[in-house]
Amino acid sequence: MTSDEVRVLVVDDNDDDAVLIGHSLARAGLPVRLTRAETTEQVTASLAQHRVDVVICDYNLPGVRAVDVLAQVREHDADLPFVLVSGQVGEETAADLMRAGARDFVLKDRLTRLAPAVQRELHESAERRRHRRIEEQLRQAERLDSLGQLAGGIAHDFNNILAVIAGYATMLTEELGPGHASHADALAIEQAAARGSGLTRQLLIFSGLEPSRPELLDLNVVATDMQRVLNRTLGEDIELTTMLSLNLPRITIDRSKLEQVIMNAALNARAAMPSGGRLTLSTELIRETGQVCLSIVDNGCGMPPEVAARAFEPFFTTKGRGRGTGLGLATAYGVVSDAGGSITLDSRPDEGTTLRICLPPAEIAAPASTLVKRPAAPSGRVLVVEDEDGVRDIVCRILRRAGYEVHAAADPAEALRLVREDHLHMDVLVTDVIMPGMSGTQLAAELRRARPALPVLFMSGYTSGSAPGGEELPADAPLLHKPFQAENLLNALHAVLA
Ligand SMILES: Nc1ncnc2c1ncn2[C@@H]1O[C@H](COP(=O)(O)OP(=O)(O)OP(=O)(O)O)[C@@H](O)[C@H]1O
Ligand SMILES: [Mg+2]
Repeated sequence: MTSDEVRVLVVDDNDDDAVLIGHSLARAGLPVRLTRAETTEQVTASLAQHRVDVVICDYNLPGVRAVDVLAQVREHDADLPFVLVSGQVGEETAADLMRAGARDFVLKDRLTRLAPAVQRELHESAERRRHRRIEEQLRQAERLDSLGQLAGGIAHDFNNILAVIAGYATMLTEELGPGHASHADALAIEQAAARGSGLTRQLLIFSGLEPSRPELLDLNVVATDMQRVLNRTLGEDIELTTMLSLNLPRITIDRSKLEQVIMNAALNARAAMPSGGRLTLSTELIRETGQVCLSIVDNGCGMPPEVAARAFEPFFTTKGRGRGTGLGLATAYGVVSDAGGSITLDSRPDEGTTLRICLPPAEIAAPASTLVKRPAAPSGRVLVVEDEDGVRDIVCRILRRAGYEVHAAADPAEALRLVREDHLHMDVLVTDVIMPGMSGTQLAAELRRARPALPVLFMSGYTSGSAPGGEELPADAPLLHKPFQAENLLNALHAVLA
């Protein structure tokens, strides 16, 4: 089974029809693999047993209502393409089904329409999934941000209280002297206060309130140094490998904090491999974003999705009371986002875990925080041109949240109208490349006739330099590949404006 194979579930009681459907898709060049179901039970079984990329359902099934199949499919996966095929169907019923979430509808005597319909559905559902993922990442970041503010506030007050406790305990210890019966008690108070300070310090790091001492670093040097430390710490049954990409741009980050992040990750990996395993540290440069990444990969027990979803929360731990504080990854998150980078987890039960830390190269690194973390100050007026509503909304939200003044246009024509008729004066243009009517490159050229120095950031869904339709971007044009994370967008915009 190859990954570009399209797995089609045909819900049809008629053998001939199912064969016809298969033929019409294969003739259009789609590498399909068909599974057939005739009952809702079989549909359930198919969806549970293997990947399904698209469901093609007959409308006139004896004893099965297409709406029920649709509901079943939607419950399994809200984005799974569903195409209805039918001999005859009243217009009203068709409209009802579309309203209920069927995305397309093909008549059996027009099966040539089926392949294009399936292709379009596949494309659109991939887009929907991408949007959902970006939104999910944004939500996660917002949730962690507000948790950070809360934790930071508590930690700050707590630290003051702990300082008082520790101070009096130290005075007591000294006054009582080693001979006194209560000397050990006072010492115990002192030690507990110190442990408390250690915890609050982690909370302060997580919330970005702990001051940083950023320095220019070569990630490879840090990784190599840590390899030595880890070799000693992790023990013999963990095989440690380092894979370095040479000539990485340098990064700006607090070295001791970065080392602590790597140490936390390695300790997590060891805990996930109680009977030994492999741990790999690797570095690389991500060409598209210019970011420098460190991946920490283990082949341990991995995490179920509900654990992975909460792993960065402070105090979330599966290790039980007294064994884990649940601050390891929360701290890592704070350190990395404070340095203008991003941290992501990829984990599956029994398949191990990859923790990936991406940091901006020093040239465009966000200024390191001083005492209080704050989004970059409002730094200009941005015009966002993007025809996909979902992407446009997300981009605008990310930019507004970062303090930019944002204006949006759904296509180049609207953008030109905003500039020419409403006299919008922008500091930078952020535009999609492929749009109806006029491409982003043409739009940029058009606007640059009046303002040759207008900074432009292009966004594209295609990974190669050239987009379909022969539209070539200049090789040095700043280009952001979709899907991107909030940090990528902000860093790229920052770089374009600099
Ligand atoms: N490499 C990993 N493999 C499997 N699960 C992991 C891994 N890293 C983290 N986890 C899961 O995420 C949870 C949170 O991790 P985190 O490092 O924040 O806290 P902790 O390890 O439980 O406690 P602490 O780091 O304070 O000792 C862990 O309890 C564990 O369930
Ligand atoms: Mg940990």
